[in-house]
Parts: sequence; C-alpha cells; structure tokens
Amino acid sequence: MPTATSPQHARIRSLEGYHEAYHLSIHHPAEFWASVAEPFTWRRKWDTVVESDMPAGRNEWFAGARLNITENCLDRHLAARGNKLALIWEPNDPKERHLRLTYRELYQHVCQFANVLMNNGVEKGDRVCLYMPMIPELAIAVLACARIGAVHSVIFAGFSATAIADRVNDAQASVVITADGLNRGTKQIPVKRVVDEALETCSSVRKVIVVEHLGWPVQMDPDRDVWYHEEANNAAKICPAEEMKAEDPLFILYTSGSTGKPKGVVHTTAGYMVWADYTFRNVFQVEENDVYWCTADIGWVTGHSYLLYGPLLAGSTSLMFEGIPTYPDAGRFWEVIDKHSVSIFYTAPTAIRALMAEPLDNVLSYSLDSLRVLGSVGEPINEEAWHWYNEHVGKGRCPIVDTWWQTETGGIMISALAGITPSVPARAGLPLPGVLPVLLRQDGTEIEGNGEEGYLAIKQSWPGMIRTTYGDHYRAVQTYFGPYPGYYFTGDGARRDENGLYRIIGRVDDVINVSGHRFGTAEIENAINQNPNVVESAVVAFPHDVKGQGIYAYVICREGACKNEADKPRVEASIIETVVAEIGKIARPDKIQLVTGLPKTRSGKIMRRILRKVAEGETSNLGDVSTLLDPAVVEDIIQGAK
Ligand code: PRX
Repeated sequence: MPTATSPQHARIRSLEGYHEAYHLSIHHPAEFWASVAEPFTWRRKWDTVVESDMPAGRNEWFAGARLNITENCLDRHLAARGNKLALIWEPNDPKERHLRLTYRELYQHVCQFANVLMNNGVEKGDRVCLYMPMIPELAIAVLACARIGAVHSVIFAGFSATAIADRVNDAQASVVITADGLNRGTKQIPVKRVVDEALETCSSVRKVIVVEHLGWPVQMDPDRDVWYHEEANNAAKICPAEEMKAEDPLFILYTSGSTGKPKGVVHTTAGYMVWADYTFRNVFQVEENDVYWCTADIGWVTGHSYLLYGPLLAGSTSLMFEGIPTYPDAGRFWEVIDKHSVSIFYTAPTAIRALMAEPLDNVLSYSLDSLRVLGSVGEPINEEAWHWYNEHVGKGRCPIVDTWWQTETGGIMISALAGITPSVPARAGLPLPGVLPVLLRQDGTEIEGNGEEGYLAIKQSWPGMIRTTYGDHYRAVQTYFGPYPGYYFTGDGARRDENGLYRIIGRVDDVINVSGHRFGTAEIENAINQNPNVVESAVVAFPHDVKGQGIYAYVICREGACKNEADKPRVEASIIETVVAEIGKIARPDKIQLVTGLPKTRSGKIMRRILRKVAEGETSNLGDVSTLLDPAVVEDIIQGAK
C-alpha cells in the first residue's frame, strides 16, 4: 500500500492503482490531494487541504497556499521543456501557415501580454473579458490575465452583442480583449464591431485591446481602444507572476441554467489547477511525446481545462484549431491529425455525428496512425457514433474516453481512464478519484445498489468544484447546494449499470444541450419574447440527428401579427432574428410552431411534458391532461406540429 505522501498518486497506471487511488481519495482526501499537489510550484504550501461545508456551498482547497498558475503552466517547464512545443496553432485555411510555440516562446508572449495589460491599467482582481477568435493570442491573453492576477472571463465569439453586454456588465469588467475579425469556414465575422455595439451599454469598460488578425480596418475609439501589436512594442518579455492565494478567483465562465439569466461560474486558483492537471493526465494517460488536440473553443469550459490549463500544466503539446470540422471539406479533422501527428484527440459527439453523415472517404483517405486515445465530451455519445468513432477513427485500437463533467465541476468527473478502466459504449464509466457520485430519488434519499437510475449528485467536495456564482453566492447555493443539502446537484439524470458504470441520461432541469452547449429554456423564451410580434412562448428540446437536441419553440403571436399562412415565414424569420440578436446564432430555434394557446394548468403553469411529447412526435400517449385549463389547446398544437 503506498504511503499517503507517495507521489505515485499523481498518476494511475493500472486498474488496481485506480481502485487504490479511489479508495484513498474518498476516505482520506486530505492525504490524497496533498500528495497529488506536492509536485507543483508553490510560493507557500497550504495550511489545510480541504475545508468543506456543502450545504452552505463553501468549499476551500489548499487554504493558506500561495502560487501563480502560470508559473506552473510555464516557468516550471522552462528548464526541462523550454524547447518543447507548448502550442501548435492550425489556421482556418489549410493553405495558411500554421504556427508553433515552444514553452519558452509561449512564456515570453504571455509575459509580454501581461505587461500590456498592466500598462493599460489592469490590476490584480480586475475582471477582463475576452471575445476572440481561436488564435494563439487568445490562449496568450488568458494566461496573461492569470499571470497578473486578473480574473479572465472568456465569452464564446458566437455570442451576440447583447449577450456580451450582459456578461461584461455582470462581471463589471474594466478591459475587453478582442480582435479585428475571425474566420469560421468560409465566413469572416467582424468581432470588433460586435464588441463596439455591446459596449454601448457597458460603462465599466475603460479599455479595449484589439489584436490584429484579419488585417481588417476597424473603428478605433481613441480614448478607449488600443492595438495589441502597438502596445506590445513597448512591453518587456519578462513579467514576474503575481502571488495569488489558493482561493483567489482565476476565472469566471458564464453558463446557462434553468433560470433566464446565465450565471458566472467562478473557479479559483489552486484547486482548479490541481484538478485540471490531475484529470488531464489520468483520463488521457498522457505521455511526454504526445501531441494532444482538443477541438473545443476556449470560449467553453472544455477549452479552458483541456486545451489550455490541463495540457500546459502537464507540460504537453496542445493543438489549437481556428476552423470548423467541415472546411474546406469533411476531412479536415483527419487531415490535421495526420499533419501534426496528433496522438490524443478530444472532440464532441455532435462533430462526430456531423462527420458520420459525410461520405466515408473523407476519413478513410487519412492514415490516422498517430492516434492513441480518443475522447468525447459535452453530451451523451450515442452508440452509433461511438462505434463509428471507434472503428473509422480509432481503427479499433484506441480506447475511447467518454468524459462526463460540467462547467461547474472544473474538470472531468466520470470517465474511463484510457486503457485502464472500462470503456463501454454509451457509458461515461467510473468516477475519477475524488468524485463520490450518488443517485438520488426526488425526495433526496440515496438510491443504493447497481442497475438503478436517479438524479446525479456528488457527495463530497473535490478540488475543481465551483466556488460561487459571481456576485451572487445565494444563487449558487440555491442552484447547486440547496436542492439536496449535503450534495452538489448536477442537474443530470444518470443510471448506474450492473457493473457500477455510470450512464448519463440527460438534464432533469429546464436546460437544453444543443451540440454540447447549454441553454436554459427560460433564456431562449426571454429572447423570443423580445420580438414585438410575440405574446408568449415555450421552448422544449427535441431529438436532433446531429445536434443531439434541437430547440423547438411554441410561440403565441400578438393579435393581427400573423393573420394568415402567408405571414408565417416572415414572422418566424423575425423571431429567429431576435434570438440571434439576443443570444447568438448558436441558440436559434430549429423549429417554430405558431400556436393560439399553450397547455397550462389551472394555476397557470405550462405543462412542458406535453410540449416535449409533441415536439418528439409522440402524440398518441400524452398522459393525463385533465388538469389543463383548456384541453382543446392540445389538439390544436398536435394539428399544427411540425
Ligand atoms: O448534461 C451534461 C452534459 O453537458 C452538461 C454540462 O454542460 P457544460 O457545462 O456546457 O459543459 C460541457 C463540457 C463539459 C452536463 O450537465 N454532458 C457533458 N458531458 C457529457 C454530458 N452528457 C453525457 N455524457 C457526457 N460525456
């Protein structure tokens, strides 16, 4: 039996090792995590490993410790890995040159960007929002924030001006970093212009730092906007890292919940660092010479933990891709894998399903010999997609890790460890060390034993867990810790199979998972209701071949707005336009059904169960409709269903 301080806990290499680590992590978490945390660079070690009051949503890890995460991502590696590639950047257009940055080069760029931030008045604790293309400067800027102790909040560059403004205002950001424009397949998008529009309603922002990417002319506000490349001329390539407390916030990332307004999930420094590194190395079983590619955008948590922090903490080579899977053709992923000899590939089921629908030649014409491990994230991977991935991409020789986790969990929670713990189609698998999942009944009692299904909750604090929702701790408590006191409530339903492997069934709350991205039904309804034609709306999910779930909107129009059939396309198009303006293209409804009424109970509650059934095309068994105020509404909805 290893001793508590044995460094071997940092890395699991066998099934037996997994069970040992798991046991220790649950029964002696302080000893276990102290041992895992040992090899990092600490300016000062912790006084206590973990202090947790789950019902209050108060969880502290490594309290008393001092550190900077970028010293662990960069400085720590310079001696042994200074000339090793840290980042490979593959552009949208394969004819353009790719870029490679060694750890030393990345370190210098990060220091330089950090100096630019400081020269522009950014101080420790300030919030900096980033609205950027997937270019190296995004990775550099994120790390630059962390270097000086500024809290980064990356906003996915597909969100609309209104959505940016909501996030910037909530975070009270003083600086925004953006670029002149971005490439996405054949499209080019003027992101600076979107930021300009957003900032019309953001009084907290003093400076906008603009990275030149497309070489487009942009309007610069002389009192507010600066070009990064001009600022960088005056900035040194050395920048001492700010000393941070373990529980100082590292970043805010906005995510949707069942209420209308997205929440700013806050992650802190030490616990997140240990979790990102530990989960990355163990799940993917990373070796020194791996070239690792996570296709997620840094605008989402997957990009934070497994494109940026996890790989850099582990001293790995991480590939960053600007483009999309289908440009210039549906072979692009596979071409990039061969070109850069990618050995670990981590993507989303939605991408796999989209590529599966294309002719098989797109994948068969590449060797994919370099691949060793495959990963999936963001939504349940259906068996058909799992087998296609296994057979045509992994050639039957690469373990697949189906990783279940959430923005709030900071890193992977339930997953196979590649080649070590069981990898079964449509199962996320066993919990990682430190993760104690339980299945709960609606009344909050625990369901024991295997072959059971319930609400998925986590019973013990883990280092990477959400600390609060920015500016509103009560909301965090209410959402995650209040529903079942003593547990972190995930919002997912799960099944524990006969072998104790977890299968994630999907959300049990009003959250829709579209292509692995979360939207609250209320959030989309609020957006739709902004349209002047609309009186009321109700949004539900329906099964979608590629996206996993699609958005189905039932909309009641204002009297006279849609007088006859011929008006419908115009009204529907204008509703879509409103959603695109309020949230972004990613949240546009796939189907809109104009209705005259919604199925409501006598107390005025919409019976979504019925709307979901209609959206799924299952109208024969709608269950009990006797509590409805006006059952005739249902018949009308069925008649008009798409
Ligand atoms: O419903 C689960 C689903 O995605 C939700 C979390 O979304 P988000 O915070 O945006 O993070 C996505 C990337 C980690 C979860 O509540 N989900 C995520 N991964 C899986 C999954 N569902 C099934 N299987 C997965 N592997």
